[in-house]
Amino acid sequence: MMTIHTIAELRSALREARMAGKRIGFVPTMGNLHEGHMQLIDLANSKSDIVVSSIFVNPLQFGLNEDLDSYPRTLREDQEKLSARGCDILFAPTNDEVYPHGQDAQTQVEVPLISDLYCGASRPGHFRGVATVVTKLFGMVQPDLAVFGEKDFQQLMVIRRMTEDLSLPVEIIGAPIARNEQGLALSSRNGYLSAEELATAVHLNASLRHVAARLQEGERDFSALQEQAQQTLEEVGFKRDYYVICRRDDLQPASAEDKQLVILAAARLGPARLIDNIQIDL
Ligand code: PAF
Repeated sequence: MMTIHTIAELRSALREARMAGKRIGFVPTMGNLHEGHMQLIDLANSKSDIVVSSIFVNPLQFGLNEDLDSYPRTLREDQEKLSARGCDILFAPTNDEVYPHGQDAQTQVEVPLISDLYCGASRPGHFRGVATVVTKLFGMVQPDLAVFGEKDFQQLMVIRRMTEDLSLPVEIIGAPIARNEQGLALSSRNGYLSAEELATAVHLNASLRHVAARLQEGERDFSALQEQAQQTLEEVGFKRDYYVICRRDDLQPASAEDKQLVILAAARLGPARLIDNIQIDL
């Protein structure tokens, strides 16, 4: 696996492959890779000839009081994992390479409406930062397809909408959520949790599965289900953020007639803000 730090080198490394008509798959990440990321690489590998992954802790998507400085940077370990899993090129640019005129002077990409909901309401500007960096990374890598995890369901929707609205020639592929044996969604931020908090964290997914089961049984009082779920999570130690049963296609709150749903949840546990979701067809 080649590790490349500049856009010029990346373009030259990909030129031949592109001219030979090879399909380029892309997995953007912020590093501190875990098995969930590796499954994104597997999926990209199964659908393309060359796999490029990026590691860039994007300052534009972090709020002022968020964990930008403490976000784990583990390049050496990440390189080993990517190489062992069959990634061909790792693109690990510096801040200056991505934002040569500085962050404040950067042209930004805003996906309206959907970016203001849920995670966007808790983290103002977050999805603008994500949409901006993903657009830039697409311009740098020019992939045929890009793989994103469904754990960040709202992020995936924002990226799909952005790609469609800007007519970017990239196929967006969602990958199922990778979980540990207890059902906890794998996340770099799980590393912030103590052993005790990790044991508590599994309640988030258990709660989603419980609410999904109630919906399958015919319960349609969404507000009551959401409120009960948040109270139960608070009882075991979570601080509430949001918990919403919504329509899968536009993430608007669901009504009793809707059939394709996703339940999105975010809650704080100790030093971490955890998110998870479950899709249901009624
Ligand atoms: O999901 C992530 O790791 C990031 O939000 C992404 C898509 C790499 C953009 O920085």
